[in-house]
Amino acid sequence: MRTLASQVSALEGKTVILQGWVLARRDHGKIMFLDLRDRSGVVQLVGSKSLGDAHPEDVITVTGLVKKRPEAMVNEKIVSGTVEVEIQEITVVSRARELPFPIDTDGREVNEEIRVKYRYLDLRRPRMAHNIRLRSKVVNFIRNFLSNRDFVEIETPVLTKTTPEGARDFLVPSRLQPGKFYALPQSPQQYKQLLMVAGFERYFQIARCFRDEDPRRDRAYGEFTQLDMEMSFVTQEDILTLTEEMFTTLIRLMFPTKHITQTPWPRLSHREVMEKYGTDKPDLRRDKNDPDELAFSWTIDFPLFNEQKDDDFFYGSGGAKFAPSHHMFTSPHPDDIPLLDTDPLKVRGLQHDLVLNGFEVGGGSIRIHQAEVQAKVFDLIGFSEKQKQEFSHMLTAFSYGVPPHGGIAPGIDRLMMALLGEPSVREVMAFPTSASGGTSVMDAPSAASPEQLVELGISVATLVNPKQGGGKAVYERIVGDIKALKLAFEPYEHEAVRTSEDAAKVRNTPLHEGAKALVLFADEKPVMVVVPGDRKLDMKAFKALYHVRDLRMATPAQVEDITGVTIGAVPPFGHMFGIPVYMDAAVGANAHVSFNAGLHTHSIRMNEKDYEKLAKPTIGEFSKALE
Ligand code: AMO
Repeated sequence: MRTLASQVSALEGKTVILQGWVLARRDHGKIMFLDLRDRSGVVQLVGSKSLGDAHPEDVITVTGLVKKRPEAMVNEKIVSGTVEVEIQEITVVSRARELPFPIDTDGREVNEEIRVKYRYLDLRRPRMAHNIRLRSKVVNFIRNFLSNRDFVEIETPVLTKTTPEGARDFLVPSRLQPGKFYALPQSPQQYKQLLMVAGFERYFQIARCFRDEDPRRDRAYGEFTQLDMEMSFVTQEDILTLTEEMFTTLIRLMFPTKHITQTPWPRLSHREVMEKYGTDKPDLRRDKNDPDELAFSWTIDFPLFNEQKDDDFFYGSGGAKFAPSHHMFTSPHPDDIPLLDTDPLKVRGLQHDLVLNGFEVGGGSIRIHQAEVQAKVFDLIGFSEKQKQEFSHMLTAFSYGVPPHGGIAPGIDRLMMALLGEPSVREVMAFPTSASGGTSVMDAPSAASPEQLVELGISVATLVNPKQGGGKAVYERIVGDIKALKLAFEPYEHEAVRTSEDAAKVRNTPLHEGAKALVLFADEKPVMVVVPGDRKLDMKAFKALYHVRDLRMATPAQVEDITGVTIGAVPPFGHMFGIPVYMDAAVGANAHVSFNAGLHTHSIRMNEKDYEKLAKPTIGEFSKALE
């Protein structure tokens, strides 16, 4: 029978069998001390070195006698600190190679891509193990809390049709209906409203949501988790009160050292927060240095619509003036319904955002339950007949007796991040995608086999392989991409140049407008760094900013190997060569960028903002003046 580390202190004088990993080994003459780690904690083992050669992170089984430690040797930092186990027999069950990074630190000094590649080791780190265990407890608390209040937990489909929340959809091809696609849901929004029509009245789900949007520290790429909730016959007040009670109880029970700045949580109108704080998610902490302070607030009375912008994805059906500020199912304030016809931008929506320490940790609303109001909103956001058709099931469902309803969806990842004071949502996710969209441990996305593609009726357009075609292919691909996005640009043909200075001269463009594209290895991975022509890369600043331990310039041969282009003609488009691009903020200070586009004799000048659209760089400050 196995004993856990947490149980040994009650078993003095007994022989126990322990199993786990060697956390540390200390040798003192002929004696060795081993710290054994299992899921419950750590226990110290002591025995003769001749018993075996277990090393850190080996998995071992030990039989031993539990002995009381002398008073002076008690270690309060571990669960079993009053005792130690005298080894009688030890077996190394499996050996561990040297780890790619230390796991006894908090890990912030390790490159994130590497941490994510070896996530199963990174999760051995006490901080990460603690985060993931606590997340499980939080979810368990929520399940119990809501189940006790008559909520029903219901799973909704992941293979479905588009449910827009303002991001791009992920598409999944259908084998049975070749040429057709499922969309992964950006949220269960439509299903939960249909469950209200079905009469469940109170629904929740720990729901996976899928959004193809650029990652940020508070935004995961690809997928994240919501506590999705919906209720019938409720007012906005009911939703806010229930949410507030749930999280207040949660924090009291599970985060006893934390304190909430203000209760009841302040409710601020959108206009008020924008005027006072310039953001709809104000950080209302009184002392931002206090790690235990939690400042919750509600932002309400949002406008129902914003003016539509180019990057309002999906709604950007062209031409329409309005985009939903939350989503298209949010109800207008009943007093403002007449304004839908006269002045839509003045209409208030029954939306509520939950804010914690400056992060939007939840969003929701009272929904439209009148088919004619929903139809009007579809018109205002510029839906074509075809788009309306795509959502006609909602209007049909609403024609069979729909209760008034509303809900909210707190983001579990963002909530845990804020509660734990972690710098990124990835620190509270077991297997997050990396910042560049690669998955943890496994190498996805990856190519499909020709057989799979045939079965799905899909052919992948052959992309120009710039690495094979050399500078000319690179030039053509850049011009092709620019034209495909209908961006403005000026092409130049000039005598061959090799330096930023010469290029600026022949193009007659300012030196600072030149975008110098450097290829480097950051912890062995190729990256592209872009700095203005009149500045140079500050390697120290770059390393500090991106937690890179080892940074070196690629040799000319390596540059050619990676880009197919010779030094001096490398364009600032790392994405074409499959390497991430880091752009110095000083490049962004210019209205235009100019660069050699794959050939020493060809340059392009374009708007800097358009350049960012194409190259999608990570932006930071890491340049210094040339001496
Ligand atoms: P919304 O789009 O506001 O609303 O999302 C609700 C909450 O989900 C979290 N969240 C994210 N967390 C991590 N990474 C992301 N990429 C990400 N995107 C969103 C945030 C956000 O507040 N269907 C509606 C809810 C409703 O109306 O009931 C919805 O999804 O914490």
